[in-house]
Amino acid sequence: MTNQKTGFRRRLANYGDADFSLYLRKAFAKSMGYRDSDLAKPIVGIANTYSGFVSCHGTVPELVKAVSDGVTAAGGLPLEFPTISLGESFVTPTSMYFRNLMALETEEMISGQPLDAVVLVGGCDKTVPAQLMAAASADVPAIQLVTGPMMTGSHRGEQLGACTDCRRYWAAHRRGEVSAEEIDEITGQLCPTAGTCMVMGTASTMACMTEAMGMMLPGGAAIPAVNADRLRHARETGRQAVTLCASGPKPSEIMTDAALTNALRVLLAIGGSTNGLVHLAAIAGRLGFNIDYARLDQLSRETPVLVDLKPSGAHYMEDLERAGGMAPVLRELAPLLDLDCLTVTGRTLGEELADAPQAWPQDVVKTRSEPVFPEGGIAVLRGNLAPDGAIIKQSAASPELLRHEGRAVVFDSLKDMAARIDAPDLDVEPEDILVLRNAGPKGAPGMPEAGYLPIPKKLALRGIKDMVRLSDARMSGTAFGTVVLHAVPEAAIGGPLALIKSGDRIRLDVAERELQLLVSDEELAARRAAWSPPDIEAERGWAKLYIDHVEQADRGCDLDFLTAPERRGTVPL
Ligand code: FES
Repeated sequence: MTNQKTGFRRRLANYGDADFSLYLRKAFAKSMGYRDSDLAKPIVGIANTYSGFVSCHGTVPELVKAVSDGVTAAGGLPLEFPTISLGESFVTPTSMYFRNLMALETEEMISGQPLDAVVLVGGCDKTVPAQLMAAASADVPAIQLVTGPMMTGSHRGEQLGACTDCRRYWAAHRRGEVSAEEIDEITGQLCPTAGTCMVMGTASTMACMTEAMGMMLPGGAAIPAVNADRLRHARETGRQAVTLCASGPKPSEIMTDAALTNALRVLLAIGGSTNGLVHLAAIAGRLGFNIDYARLDQLSRETPVLVDLKPSGAHYMEDLERAGGMAPVLRELAPLLDLDCLTVTGRTLGEELADAPQAWPQDVVKTRSEPVFPEGGIAVLRGNLAPDGAIIKQSAASPELLRHEGRAVVFDSLKDMAARIDAPDLDVEPEDILVLRNAGPKGAPGMPEAGYLPIPKKLALRGIKDMVRLSDARMSGTAFGTVVLHAVPEAAIGGPLALIKSGDRIRLDVAERELQLLVSDEELAARRAAWSPPDIEAERGWAKLYIDHVEQADRGCDLDFLTAPERRGTVPL
């Protein structure tokens, strides 16, 4: 009765009598109306992340139904199950604080239930990374399906969308150029449909990287959430999941070092979110790979930004879809990619690309000879302020600030920043460098997207739109400006950010990849001797598990006991 260890007979509840376990499972399954013939089919689990708190997942119920239809049509049994879901603006202190919890829960549900393959339905920033981390660790055949981007809105004749335009209008409001009434009006147009942020924010970045990595059916990254093509794509995803049940490939066979390298190359070429790097590091860590930041920076020097989307460019995801989605991007990058990498279709990236629709005239995906930005979107900085690296999204920065020396204006924490940033007596000038510390993975906790410090009100009112900003925090992928992020190690564990004093001078030189505090080693040693760590202990629950085990940004902020036990190498290759 228990010889065949697939589908319904897989992973039995343990009563010490396997036949009894199967008998009992069958009885309960029949209460849901299934026939014996249904229970003999391959089972595709569908991770359902619908939540009333996740606006970006509003279409998940219809996507789950479309996946189910595809599974059924291909002869499988679709069984959906709920998982944690995370909406960016709906959780405190920050969705990043819960990404690993979602990854852990999703992994355990994939591993603990009788399914032969799983379709992961995600979309909002942290959900897709969490699901891919889970898939990497569970190593059960898996396909990622994203909800897809929102359509853009329109405000007084201007096309706009979340959340690059949210920030632009908010900054204008702080400068006194947009009234409170108009801001209220704009809230109705920034997110006008279901779906994820429609600029090249973190959700779009993860979708594009996932397609490049081979974990999504080709063509799935950019289809708008409310386009019928999204449903057809979901149905095909369900069909393909049934094929995966029988023969794989497994995530570990798809997300190889070469595929992860392809994903990093795409991250640089799309002007992708800096968060994409943290999440890719976490996914890679699950598979035994560390990110080699020196090599990544080398890739950045030779990979131009090709995709003209906000915040680095001008367009939105619906424009990328009209331009052909990821196919023209991958085609333009093809000489720099490993096209032999396997995808969820069982075919290689090169084979899929050869069969993708032919290119047509468009102005969203540029050529390597005439790019949006001559280097990759992200540059890796080194220096005495970030011994293990810091990053800057150079493609979304002010060119005149990429080489800058200024006086530090230091905020000791998020609370301190909130209390003082708009104070009329804040000693700050436009050429200063704003520093926020104790906002990293442990210090905040959760490494919130606070690295995009607001321009102090007194300067905003003078029309100042950008300043150099530096922190151990993250920034939204939709944000723009000259913002240095992810300084490692973070201040809360004694990283050099902890030693800066207001008035110190800092030098940033992105071309030279330099981030330097212009204070002598002797003085820094004296400050270190006098430094005492902030109180970041947690007593219980997830907070304790998180604080005790979260790693630094360069390791993806995963929990140390969830990464692969052995390191197999580094990426990019
Ligand atoms: Fe969900 Fe932007 S808030 S993708």
